[in-house]
Amino acid sequence: MTRSTARSEALFARAQRTIAGGVSSDARRMPGVPLFVDHAHGAELWDVDGNRYIDYVLGQGPNLLGHAAPEVQEAVTMQVTRGITYAAQHELEAEAAELICEMVPCAELVRFNSVGSEAVHAALRLARGHTGRAKVIKFEGNYHGWLDPVLYSVHPDPEAAGSPQALRAVPGSAGQTPHGSDELILLPHNDLDAVRSAFAAHGSEIAAVIVEPFLCNTGAIMPVPGFLEGLRELTTAHGSVLIFDEIISGFRVAPGGAQELLGVTPDLAAFGKAMAGGMQVSALAGSREVMNSITDGTVAHAGTFNSHPVAMAAAVAVLRTLHEQRESIYPPMIHRGEQLMAELRAAGQAAGVPLLVEGTGAVFQTYLTEADTVRNYRDFVATDRAGMARLHQRLFDRGVSIVPRGLWFLSTEHTDDLLAETLEAVAAALPGLQEEENG
Ligand SMILES: Cc1ncc(COP(=O)(O)O)c(C=O)c1O
Repeated sequence: MTRSTARSEALFARAQRTIAGGVSSDARRMPGVPLFVDHAHGAELWDVDGNRYIDYVLGQGPNLLGHAAPEVQEAVTMQVTRGITYAAQHELEAEAAELICEMVPCAELVRFNSVGSEAVHAALRLARGHTGRAKVIKFEGNYHGWLDPVLYSVHPDPEAAGSPQALRAVPGSAGQTPHGSDELILLPHNDLDAVRSAFAAHGSEIAAVIVEPFLCNTGAIMPVPGFLEGLRELTTAHGSVLIFDEIISGFRVAPGGAQELLGVTPDLAAFGKAMAGGMQVSALAGSREVMNSITDGTVAHAGTFNSHPVAMAAAVAVLRTLHEQRESIYPPMIHRGEQLMAELRAAGQAAGVPLLVEGTGAVFQTYLTEADTVRNYRDFVATDRAGMARLHQRLFDRGVSIVPRGLWFLSTEHTDDLLAETLEAVAAALPGLQEEENG
């Protein structure tokens, strides 16, 4: 397929002269030229060369109501005429916090930040400050942002990361604090026995367990039955804090996030992405008991842009829409996503390509593998990731944009027509994928 890319190439060359690597986040690096967007509307996006894409990336998840959703535009436009930032209290943040407390099972108190990494950072500091303990259990393949204390063993080289029985924490970057992983206990995702053993050995030192309850940074992996319930029991029994990182799953898989969908309530949860229609805002929400360590000033939490008025205006508009229209938003979107998942499986079969499709209708993963399911990072590594990258490129060349590792985000704006068009691109992209793989 040939797409015109001349303007993107020129912009990339220009960007590389003054922006390190030509991109502002490593997640935006692509083989060749990164995507330079001109504009986006609903579930569609146009690049600077005029190529149009059906967008399943949605800004890495935030645009659940589609790009440039009218309610977000209106709220943001109204707020910018009233002042852009105050670094002071205002009514919108109370309204956003009230909506979160109504929607999210664990939320009795809330604090706002700007991005997900900060909300996670706040959660870990709070858990350590509240318990007076240092150690944190983290699962291999889970991503909790790019900050030093958690950027370990997201997608490590398995050889460097040890066997599942004795995992090592592998830093994700040069320059992380030396010995930063000393207080981390790295365990295989979905392995409750490993968590039991860790608590048996270190129970009185463990401040928190942090987990993506529905793991979306290494495939789209549901917890095995009993895993989250077991984490809840063990943390309660040992006086540790259970933290759900719901930066992706929050307000996406259900109005109350994965904790509502899966029926397990953590002590603390971090939210971001889908809560504000593309504006940058995150939230730490949790039980009054744990959050009280922020209330009473024992644990410090700050930020010039926290509860930014424009972002809060967007958050209120989105949260109110999701809350009040939950019946007309979630079931149809999830149904269309499930339909797409089923049709992708059928397309794989028709083309003789082993396409495994797992997750929920709101966000799912395609893997190239003969396996029946993917439960953890090691299963994920065993899938054909290079083949998946090739499928991503083939789809991209045909006007369908998915997250390169094979993740698909749905929005309310993915219509039946767009789904049908997507499936045509998939049918054209799949044949010959394996030959290329083996050749
Ligand atoms: C589960 C999870 N936690 C934390 C983060 C970090 O959020 P941000 O990129 O907004 O800092 C991400 C980002 O993708 C995420 O997926």
